[in-house]
Amino acid sequence: MHILITGGAGFIGSHVVRHFLNHYPSYTISNLDSLTYAGNLANLSDVEERQNYRFVKGDITDGDFLMRLFEEHQFDGVIHLAAESHVDRSIVNPTAFVVTNVMGTVNLLNAAKASWQSDYEGKKFYHISTDEVYGSLGSGGLFTEETPYDPHSPYSASKASSDHFVRAWHDTFGLPVVISNCSNNYGSFQFPEKLIPLFINNILHNKPLPVYGKGENIRDWLWVVDHAQAIDLIYHQGKTGETYNIGGHNEWSNIDLIRLLCRIMDTKLSRAAGESEKLVTYVTDRAGHDLRYAIDSSKLQRELGWVPSITFEKGLELTVEWYLSNGEWLNNVTSGSYQHYYEKMYGVR
Ligand code: NAD
Ligand code: TYD
Repeated sequence: MHILITGGAGFIGSHVVRHFLNHYPSYTISNLDSLTYAGNLANLSDVEERQNYRFVKGDITDGDFLMRLFEEHQFDGVIHLAAESHVDRSIVNPTAFVVTNVMGTVNLLNAAKASWQSDYEGKKFYHISTDEVYGSLGSGGLFTEETPYDPHSPYSASKASSDHFVRAWHDTFGLPVVISNCSNNYGSFQFPEKLIPLFINNILHNKPLPVYGKGENIRDWLWVVDHAQAIDLIYHQGKTGETYNIGGHNEWSNIDLIRLLCRIMDTKLSRAAGESEKLVTYVTDRAGHDLRYAIDSSKLQRELGWVPSITFEKGLELTVEWYLSNGEWLNNVTSGSYQHYYEKMYGVR
């Protein structure tokens, strides 16, 4: 079994690569990543020497390169995670999201189709997507696999579009695809532009915590390791042509989450209770900010027996501990161009 994982040097991708190398030593795992600001080979330093692991530096927006790669290697499966993934960046530069998330996915579909079309037997194209394609919920209800798509940000619109193309390649060309739509992930190796690692880093450096709007938006948080386990199950047992929602029934308003994070940081840094929370600063809301995401993952639980392994309180504590004991990783990724990003996004250094 030879699986091509795209975006394997990113946050979730690195956990998926590690999971497959640890659980399936007989598989060959090729990790294709162009190493954007979000891709970092240090995320895989513990597994990079494995005999059955290969890194390929390459860009999914280069269709000819993908055709050659699929000619050189007989991949049995693709797990596609490579993407531009941050909503705020999609507001600043939407086109990059269309190019990578839509065109990149179509290039990959074309390459898989060209390589497999004589025989789809035993092949699988697994597209990793997000719950953000479903839009925004009010105070009640959950996203199911039947919820109509209603994306609002350029990021979620690009992911929704890529999901439609994946389904079209299944319905039109018979490509054996499967899609999953997951809620917000957290855990080790997440780039500190997303809420949790950004705020851990800011608390560490006594910098303001920029809370958008009133902090009332709700997200459904899942430990990245549990996402990787769900991806394993869906890759091996998911039904071709189907979609699976992944989420841990774990809704938190941003401000409640931030208060919990501040309490954990105070304890871990031996600061007085309430010290970190003083850094909370309410700032202008994100444009088009979705109010609430919440996932109904009962299909995945019922059909494939998946259950999240850890409570949010425990997972968040483990995550904080990881960032505190990996200061070198954090310093490396927040030096250089990160400073320019931060200044542009938040108006301060
Ligand atoms: P990330 O930004 O941490 O990693 C993305 C990776 O893709 C990076 O390694 C980057 O170098 C690579 N990449 C970007 N453009 C590329 C290109 N043109 N060619 C090759 N590689 C390229 O993202 P993440 O948070 O790990 O998300 C991974 C996937 O999971 C994405 O498809 C995202 O939409 C989806 N997802 C993320 C979340 C979340 O909470 N982070 C939730 C649900 C779904
Ligand atoms: P984020 O981690 O960017 O994930 P997403 O937008 O994909 O859900 O943001 C999570 C929530 O935190 C979202 O409601 C926006 C909010 N947020 C802030 O309040 N301040 C910030 O600096 C960031 C990055 C996010």
